[in-house]
Amino acid sequence: MRGVAERSQTAAAPRPADPRRSRNPLTRVIDSFWNPTPASLRLLALLGVIGNALIVATGGAVRVTKSGLGCPDWPRCSGDSLVPTHNPAHSAANMAIEFGNRMLTFVVLAIGVLVFVAALRLVPRRKDLVWWALAQPMSVVAQAVIGGIVVLSKLHPAAVALHFLISPALLVFCVALYERSGEGDTAPERIVRPVLRGLSAVLASAAAVVLVAGTVVTGTGPHAGDDKSRRWGFEIEDVTRVHSGLAWITVGLTVLALIVAFRTGAPAAYRRRVLTLVAIEVAQGALGYIQYFMGVPGPLVVLHMLGAVLLWITALRILFATRDRGSMPAAETAAPAPSSRTEPQPA
Ligand code: HEM
Repeated sequence: MRGVAERSQTAAAPRPADPRRSRNPLTRVIDSFWNPTPASLRLLALLGVIGNALIVATGGAVRVTKSGLGCPDWPRCSGDSLVPTHNPAHSAANMAIEFGNRMLTFVVLAIGVLVFVAALRLVPRRKDLVWWALAQPMSVVAQAVIGGIVVLSKLHPAAVALHFLISPALLVFCVALYERSGEGDTAPERIVRPVLRGLSAVLASAAAVVLVAGTVVTGTGPHAGDDKSRRWGFEIEDVTRVHSGLAWITVGLTVLALIVAFRTGAPAAYRRRVLTLVAIEVAQGALGYIQYFMGVPGPLVVLHMLGAVLLWITALRILFATRDRGSMPAAETAAPAPSSRTEPQPA
């Protein structure tokens, strides 16, 4: 194993396997995490965000197609088998959907491991990026364990809700890594008024509460994941009213943040993110009402879950736009491409 000093020396000399030089796609992929650049680490972090958002949608597909017990055992799928086998109690389609969702967990886990390796090998190493990255494979493992509890509890609504809510929690790490890997390490400098900073934090908290309330609606509604699973005993109208009321409060806070941002001259990046959030909220709210009045058709429920995750990611990114940590350290910035360099011209 190479020492830190030796790694730093290697960093000073041109690396033979620099992804910017290699033409072999496989070498480029391997270099993206084994000899990472800030850009390749950021790309991996983005893949982590996308993978974790997608797995929410596939988890939703499992639920609305009643495939939650398609693999009735855990960690094995059925009986002694790790993969779906003939089981008279479960249709082949249900087994395939649940098994596919389990497989996607491995893809997300693999991305988490690669992100961690890349953060560890980035030269010079940036400690907080390593911690944000380490949290990703760890939380996927936690998610897999809770997924097991969901199956073993026969899809108890509390377990199903927790299983969903781990994803937004995990996305905090993914988004933090993505944002931090694109900026420097100077002390955070606040670039919006204190009131806007506070408002952004309240906004993110309100969005989190809406997510939790949404899981109560789901636990009360018809999409349990299996016909025989337990349900919360609330009136669906009541819990939906609370959930949509909280969503309206979040929309109100977002509009307030937008007004304050424009009136106080907040940076364009901050205003853009808040505007994006308004757009997502309008779409998500409309979808919420449409699915409710249509008797929660499966495809709309999956879209609503995806919308919830996008909304959450945007609310988190707003927080990061309230402060500035400088640009990437010079040593880490990728060298400009040869064509864009201004070479001294002969007289
Ligand atoms: C705009 C912000 C909103 C967010 C972030 C949001 C988020 C969520 C989340 C996270 C769930 C639970 C998903 C799950 O556990 O699998 C959910 C469920 C639900 N939401 Fe929303 N929601 C919003 C607005 C609304 C509105 C305005 C309505 C209107 C009635 C609504 C109606 C529903 C219904 C009916 C469900 C249950 C779907 C099912 O049976 O699985 N949502 N929402």
